[in-house]
Amino acid sequence: MFKISDNIKYKNGKKLSMLTCYDYTMATMFEKMKNNIDIILVGDSLGNVIQGEGDTLGVEVDDIIYHTKCVKKGAPSVFTVADMPFMSYQISVEKAVENAGIIMKKSKPNAVKLEGGREYIEHIKKIILSGIPVMGHLGLTPQSVNVFGGYNVRGRLSDEREKIKEDALLLEKAGVFSIVLECIPSDLAQEITNSLKIPVIGIGAGVECDGQVLVLQDMLGMNNNKFKFVRKYAELDSIICNSIKKYDEDVKNNKFPGKDESFV
Ligand code: KIV
Repeated sequence: MFKISDNIKYKNGKKLSMLTCYDYTMATMFEKMKNNIDIILVGDSLGNVIQGEGDTLGVEVDDIIYHTKCVKKGAPSVFTVADMPFMSYQISVEKAVENAGIIMKKSKPNAVKLEGGREYIEHIKKIILSGIPVMGHLGLTPQSVNVFGGYNVRGRLSDEREKIKEDALLLEKAGVFSIVLECIPSDLAQEITNSLKIPVIGIGAGVECDGQVLVLQDMLGMNNNKFKFVRKYAELDSIICNSIKKYDEDVKNNKFPGKDESFV
């Protein structure tokens, strides 16, 4: 059982590290590294990363449940947040609570995350009242890509900047235990981080946040994404492609399997 205040260290000077994960095998590595990672996010970015879509809009509650179950099996000791997908919480307070409950019952994450501010305050309050911890998400909220008209940095104009700041305060007041800030100017993220008691986790939001999150496949270099805010900690793309090439050569040249890999 996780106590959020034990696991998600509130503003104690130590930064929080969060990464996405969507499957059992990768999750077993998080379990091994549980002292080196604070939070797993089963993000609706699985729409892009796992399903190969251009956006996250098609992700269903059942997809989140399936992937969260896989992840929890592999990393039972790591605090795990499951994303609420597009249209699973927007329609009404009742639908939001119902879907958050279904995700919790069926896949047992430790919390849910949902995008948006003032529009969903009542939804968030009711989910929390039902016993489900909620993480907020402001700034570039990918589920609103069709309103924004793309995946651009948010909060550069003064009206939007003020809105994001106000929304962050409203979310904290509503009881979220943490907020993700995505793709906003660093000084805005810093201002929000300084104004909140709960930890603020950034992605493309500068170094002053209380923590950072990245999509695992991006930081492992498993794709050709060249987002400014991503640091590639490995180049798995070339390692995997070279391994596939070597395997293909070995098979075609009768070099695999060898005697040691065969039965007598
Ligand atoms: O779905 C996701 O991976 C996310 C992160 C980018 C924060 O929401």
